[in-house]
Amino acid sequence: MVPKNVDDPKPCREQDLGKFEVIHRDGIAKLGRLHTAHGPLHTPALLPVINPNIRTIEPRELWDNWGIEGLITNSYIIWKHEKLSVPAQKLGVHKLLDFPGVIVCDSGTFQSYIYGDVEVGVEEIIEFQKSIGVDVATMLDVFGRPDMTRQQMMEAVETTIERAEPSINAAEGMMLNGPIQGGLEWDLRQRSAQQMSKYDFAIHPIGGIVPIMEQHRYLELTKIMLASIPHLPASRPVHLFGCGHPMLFPMAVALGADLFDSAAYALFAKDDRLLLPWGTVKLENLEYWPLLTPSLHGWTPSQVRDLGKEERTALLARFNMDVTVAELNRCRQAVKDGTIWELTEMRSHQHPALREAYQWLITAPSENFGFHNDDGLVLSESDASREHGSEYGIWEGAWEWVIDSTSQQRDGGVSWLGPESHERPWVEVARRLLHSRWRTSTQSEEVLILHGRSGPWRDRIGNIVCRIKAKMPDLEVLIQTPFGLLPWSLEDVNPFAHVEGPSWLHRRRPDLRWCANELSRLGLSGKKIILFDMATADMKETLKEALPSLTLDADTDELVVFELEREQAISKLSLFANIHAEVCRNALTGCQFIHSRTRRVKNILLQDGRHIASPRLTDGGLSLTEVGAKWAHNLRTAPVPAGFECQRIEENVSQGPPWVVIEDDAVPFIRDGRNVFHGFITAVDAWLRPGASCLIVNSKGELIAHGISKAAPKEMAELKKGIAVRTRDGIKV
Ligand code: GUN
Repeated sequence: MVPKNVDDPKPCREQDLGKFEVIHRDGIAKLGRLHTAHGPLHTPALLPVINPNIRTIEPRELWDNWGIEGLITNSYIIWKHEKLSVPAQKLGVHKLLDFPGVIVCDSGTFQSYIYGDVEVGVEEIIEFQKSIGVDVATMLDVFGRPDMTRQQMMEAVETTIERAEPSINAAEGMMLNGPIQGGLEWDLRQRSAQQMSKYDFAIHPIGGIVPIMEQHRYLELTKIMLASIPHLPASRPVHLFGCGHPMLFPMAVALGADLFDSAAYALFAKDDRLLLPWGTVKLENLEYWPLLTPSLHGWTPSQVRDLGKEERTALLARFNMDVTVAELNRCRQAVKDGTIWELTEMRSHQHPALREAYQWLITAPSENFGFHNDDGLVLSESDASREHGSEYGIWEGAWEWVIDSTSQQRDGGVSWLGPESHERPWVEVARRLLHSRWRTSTQSEEVLILHGRSGPWRDRIGNIVCRIKAKMPDLEVLIQTPFGLLPWSLEDVNPFAHVEGPSWLHRRRPDLRWCANELSRLGLSGKKIILFDMATADMKETLKEALPSLTLDADTDELVVFELEREQAISKLSLFANIHAEVCRNALTGCQFIHSRTRRVKNILLQDGRHIASPRLTDGGLSLTEVGAKWAHNLRTAPVPAGFECQRIEENVSQGPPWVVIEDDAVPFIRDGRNVFHGFITAVDAWLRPGASCLIVNSKGELIAHGISKAAPKEMAELKKGIAVRTRDGIKV
């Protein structure tokens, strides 16, 4: 049995009311916490819709049995019915509904969309919500229907923006929803997000999407999210108004949605339909349960069909709630595990419209992979803007926002589920780091490409590579991985080194055009390619065919081993500390290495014995030490950053680890080794990203500490609570 959620929640600290903090992230998908007077609301969260007149499941039962921390009800319905409004004003909405957690209230906009107009005023509905004690109220926005003309849509957006200020004033500090409208007009969605952000809303719901979801127009739903969310403050959760089908959760979470509301669990139950993570089924067609949840234990489909209407609806609503909560939990776990894009990719196969949306998402907005026409041909930039018109610029920026939010380093392997797996944001980030920051040190006109086996390559062929390098020190050795060519010096770096896929994926013979393209991205254009198949039974024979003039020594040369280790240190410092390879090469002249018992490099020491960094076994990354942070800080020539601009990492190559400038008041705490919290940061470098090693400095640029960033520049500017940098070492004066 699941322990019941019986205790009533504790109100947040006064100073935290309305603040949203990110506890864990996977790109823009996040596990967050919204602080309210009725306890924390952990996101992504499902707010079940409660119609105060018809309670399919009692709110208290939602709290007790499903751990539901927040629900959404409708203030317009309460306001309209005296039998509800009188007790609500007397006892408060929490007592009316018998729910101890967070109560969000909608405003009547949806009723005006369904029935035409509502007779309540803009301020009136806010004041009413305040009078019944809701935690988060909603202003009266104008629902932008997809069939509106552009002119009508513009008016809907502008009227909603005009109502923002009087609504905020009437709220007098109560947390308020500021909905984003704009229908399918992408620039209006963008404008709506930009303008509504200027007011002090607690949450931004994306509105006007119910008819779009009802018609399974998921590609358009995706575009609405990408046109709006990048322009909203990172410090406020995003709610998808009316989105409660579990099938949509993974992609919506991956694109930054934090809150969902569901009437679907009750509406579908009333209609004898079951919600599933892969779609919807009718009870009448079922001989077997597609999923067995606690609510269905002891029942067969035919027994449930024989029940009376009310009892059947109650049972199916509980099943729908089980499935919805479970899928949201699956998304939460995926964010924790760093696999939300993997889950999104998997779930996209459940419905043709989701497939269409996902395929568009991973190809069209990404400049790197270009726009496609209907035949799947990649278009040039000018052809793309001709074919896609004004959409082109919007999506390119939106995809960069996804990439910028993605952590640069992480543990664990990657499941290869098909060619689309190459387009996952993390894979793209890793490729960008490699292609922009890695530099060859070799001059040879030839490169050797190892192929045919999955990693760990060091164990499989490290000894032979070492003996080849003894004879041909100037030969660049690379490995064919499913995600691209990888220099030998980075052979254990994730995600390249840990791809779980079918064996043919690792065994396939390199395509020479693909190799040439990869080589040019690595700055090795025009080199002659020599292939070496690691999967052959007789490696010596294969090597003779690949490099006929080469005779290998029987033993490895310690000097060559040292050179390979040094090259590895240089490559990793370039990649992960953003220091120019030549600078590293000079600094590591005569360096020393401390090895583990398994002969792996544990510590990297400069010639004078200073320990600057340690390679990490878990992800192939590199951890700077306190001494290393000081060393990297001294190399810096760029000025102290002055704002929160975000630029592509390709634009700031070799500038060193990014700096985070903290308020001078916070300096003593950070020197002491405490983490840096949001709200104490005054500027960051434009190449700061989550997961990156960073240097923490004061306003004069003096080094205070170093650590691992948890956010990108936009989030550093906007978030007000939570850890911004996990400090590794404070630097004492
Ligand atoms: N419920 C579903 N869609 C909407 C919307 O666009 N605005 C409001 N206020 N509520 C909604």
